[in-house]
Amino acid sequence: MNTMKAFIYTEYGAPDVLRLADVPKPVPKPNEILVKVHASSVSAGSLWIRKGIYPGSAFYTLFIRLLFGITKPRNPILGNEFSGIVEDAGNDVQSWKKGDAVYGTTTGLKQGAYADYVCIPEMGKQNVIAPKPQNLTFEEAATLPIGGMTALDLLLKANIQQAPKVLVYGASGSVGTFAVQIARAFGANVTGVCSGKNVDLVGSLGAENVLDYTKQDFTECTEKFDIVFDAVGKLETAIRKRLLRQEGKFASIMSPTSEKREHLETLHGMIADGKLKPVIDKVYPFGQLVEAHRYVDLGHKKGNVVIKHL
Ligand SMILES: NC(=O)c1ccc[n+]([C@@H]2O[C@H](COP(=O)([O-])OP(=O)(O)OC[C@H]3O[C@@H](n4cnc5c(N)ncnc54)[C@H](OP(=O)(O)O)[C@@H]3O)[C@@H](O)[C@H]2O)c1
Repeated sequence: MNTMKAFIYTEYGAPDVLRLADVPKPVPKPNEILVKVHASSVSAGSLWIRKGIYPGSAFYTLFIRLLFGITKPRNPILGNEFSGIVEDAGNDVQSWKKGDAVYGTTTGLKQGAYADYVCIPEMGKQNVIAPKPQNLTFEEAATLPIGGMTALDLLLKANIQQAPKVLVYGASGSVGTFAVQIARAFGANVTGVCSGKNVDLVGSLGAENVLDYTKQDFTECTEKFDIVFDAVGKLETAIRKRLLRQEGKFASIMSPTSEKREHLETLHGMIADGKLKPVIDKVYPFGQLVEAHRYVDLGHKKGNVVIKHL
């Protein structure tokens, strides 16, 4: 039997529930491609799935357990996003061939990206796959789908095309760094909120104003915004109302978002125009996945954390 290396977890918990193991190498079905994974990421979402809880919310915890396993994880290999090279393609696959550089998500699939190989359907029900933009490295591409599509989906729903002024709360995280750049790409004037150590980073992404929430109460700011984008998930209704113009829209990462190939194409356009670039905080070798999860558990990564498989 052909085997591969993968990090598996068979119980919910702290980062060390993840352990390296030899598992069967997957074989693509007729509608699937086999991808040799070059890079994956540690997204905030993968932490909740590893822990089996969403802190402070019984509702979201129940949601996670229903989706991923009531008492223990249903699927043992985590990893929400990846980049890599197509190694094999099923007989029905038309868009991809051996050697293509691709990236995408594993949403709704039985196996995640923390492995040497992953099988991806050509037309997934929930996940997306696209050609890797040539001007992104494999490490950068592995961070784009979740954070980039979440930020774009929520900004489009909040009518970013008609929003001259946008406030991004949590502007230094994965979703936040994408939201600042995407709002700027649509021509908005952006105010970012983050802690002091990240003020320069958020300014470098194009935010005209950056407020340090550790030094000032940004909720007392007298400016009014067309969109208040909450990338932390903590803004109370009264605060949103105070910060928004009368017709302003609130966008929150607590709302459901959709993965769409067209979202990736919009992001590709911004990347090609030099208006969008994934922010990478740290890159860990595959063997140090547990350390990477420990770091992201602290809740203050800058942009994205990458796992380099090759
Ligand atoms: N709805 C969806 O489809 C969807 C998709 C992806 C992610 N999410 C969710 O979105 C959230 C953010 O994800 P992410 O990947 O961007 O996380 P992240 O990279 O860890 O970013 C977290 C952000 O929160 C800020 N922060 C941390 N503690 C804070 C505090 N006490 N007060 C104010 N700001 C604080 C951090 O800024 P400082 O370090 O500067 O403090 C950072 O900007 C997660 O809960 C994730 O599960 C939802």
